[in-house]
Amino acid sequence: MKSLIDILDLTTAEIDELISKANDIIDHPDRYAEKCRGKKLATLFFEPSTRTRLSFEAAMYELGGHVIGFSEASSSSTSKGESVQDTVRAVSCYADIIAMRHPKEGAPKVASMKASVPIINAGDGGHNHPTQTLTDLLTIQREKGRLNDLRIGFCGDLQFGRTVHSLISALSRYHNIHFTLISPAELKLPDYIKVDVLQKKKLDFEETAKLDQALPNLDILYMTRVQKERFFNEADYIRLKDSYILTPEKLKNAKSDLCIMHPLPRVNEISCAVDDDPRACYFHQVLNGKFIRMALILKLLEID
Ligand code: CP
Repeated sequence: MKSLIDILDLTTAEIDELISKANDIIDHPDRYAEKCRGKKLATLFFEPSTRTRLSFEAAMYELGGHVIGFSEASSSSTSKGESVQDTVRAVSCYADIIAMRHPKEGAPKVASMKASVPIINAGDGGHNHPTQTLTDLLTIQREKGRLNDLRIGFCGDLQFGRTVHSLISALSRYHNIHFTLISPAELKLPDYIKVDVLQKKKLDFEETAKLDQALPNLDILYMTRVQKERFFNEADYIRLKDSYILTPEKLKNAKSDLCIMHPLPRVNEISCAVDDDPRACYFHQVLNGKFIRMALILKLLEID
């Protein structure tokens, strides 16, 4: 039994297989409609979510399976003091696979050591979000036709943005990727990623606070929300939250085939006026998330 806790739990060959499977599901959804008949997915969400939880649920329904679960800790026995370990041992008795989001970093890893079914990390604190990374990789592959030879800019909250951390780790294994890290000084990429991933692998990266200067060189711009829920001090959040706002005016200097991504939810960092720009890919990303999660459920349940 295999779980997915960190994107690096998957080899690049496995990621390529998942992308290929997701593309096949997109082209032939009817072939997959009964694949999970009789199977149950449990969605254990200890932290709020719209896309991740609902795309997992939609994925399982479109595979012919069933879904159980809860969307907030307060409606589970966690509110009575039950541990994550006991919760997943109990849910393993009812479900064939578990998708779990938790505010504590490492909680899905702990769960995977106690569960008797595969655990999928659906986001743990500011740490990792591997299924968002699979979504992002599928989106890049579909929009740009490749996962190598790219100049990607990450903009916004690079300190707490777990989707950024996972995607940098994943892209570090592809060829000729140039990373531009755009953030205010207070929200820079944590050292454990800069040193252990980018510097250790001698990858090509630069840090800047200036989106306008970085934009013209990028193939992909990955915007992120400033993560209010991870701040200890509200005054700091208010000061930093509007550090970057992407507008049609700013995009005048960008490449004509730029791919603008955002894991969503968006707050203020991309003006709604950008949504009709053909370079805006963030709602394609939302749809891709369902298909790659279908492919992942099939893989972890070992269903061909
Ligand atoms: N991208 C993402 O994780 O969105 P949700 O928080 O709505 O699940």
